[in-house]
Amino acid sequence: MGRKQSSSPWNAATGWYLVSWSKDLAGSGVMPLRYFGREYVLYRGESGTPALLDAFCPHLGAHLGYGGTVHGDAITCPFHAWSFGSNGRCTRIPYAERIPPKAGLRAYPVQEHSGMILAWFSRNGSEPHYDVPVINELSDSAWTPMEFAEIEIATEPREVIENIADFAHFKVVHNTVIDDFKVTIDGPRAIQQTVGRGANLKNEPIPVRSTATYHGPAVQLTRLAWAYDMVLINSHVPIEEDRLLLRFGVSLRAGEGVTLPKAVVDAHVAAARDGYFEDVAIWENKLWRDTPLLVKEDGPIWKVRKWYRSFYPPAAPSAAP
Ligand code: FES
Ligand SMILES: [Fe+2]
Repeated sequence: MGRKQSSSPWNAATGWYLVSWSKDLAGSGVMPLRYFGREYVLYRGESGTPALLDAFCPHLGAHLGYGGTVHGDAITCPFHAWSFGSNGRCTRIPYAERIPPKAGLRAYPVQEHSGMILAWFSRNGSEPHYDVPVINELSDSAWTPMEFAEIEIATEPREVIENIADFAHFKVVHNTVIDDFKVTIDGPRAIQQTVGRGANLKNEPIPVRSTATYHGPAVQLTRLAWAYDMVLINSHVPIEEDRLLLRFGVSLRAGEGVTLPKAVVDAHVAAARDGYFEDVAIWENKLWRDTPLLVKEDGPIWKVRKWYRSFYPPAAPSAAP
């Protein structure tokens, strides 16, 4: 049986999503992707620029992500060799005189930097109106190369987002005492600042300080001062309505000209990652409450929910994210 494709999936927040790590899309690579309950093809043109298109060929519906090949900056369908440029327009039908004007695929704005391939999904077809900033530490030799992890989990984006406002879970889930906690909303960004106390890997108490900024609804960059200074990427992208892919990246500051033993780096990277994944066991089994019963010490949960809703402009009638 063939595949089904919904033209308009469920409501998704408009913004930049991390659709692949750069390292996973090799030179002129082609990758099928499934996000938001829909199929896409991600490929890297010969110029090195990645492109993201809807997956199914407008001709007879082959999936470009399975057997599609790259020529220049276009991708060629494995079935009858129609080619499509990175803007989705059909550029060539090798056996036809004329290209039908409608021959094209939806193309999504793509950016690549800091080891991330980001794509803009919009409910109403809006163009990108903010950027995910470049992580400058990654081009500084005092910092270790970024380590990457990903995990597929059965939850929805709102649960992941809510984590930044949920003051009371830090002690219980992460064994961190927070002395100072603040969430600031600045347009498309939600900035969480914390000062607290945790433990190093020898279980000695040490101060912990972090600034974790969501740049839009799905990509968070964190600067963390713990046993080492660290920079973290944390992003999620929905696969289906009730399943998402969580991606996590971490780099630590070893120091100028310092080579830390690999085991030390690995242990701190793992600890940072595992701290984040501690939430997963809760998320996978919980219920989303639209009207939770809160107490005033719970943190700015309503404020963050309101911010997240701002990424849901009214959908255009036939818009796909
Ligand atoms: S299905 Fe793609 S070229 Fe025919
Ligand atoms: Fe958490």
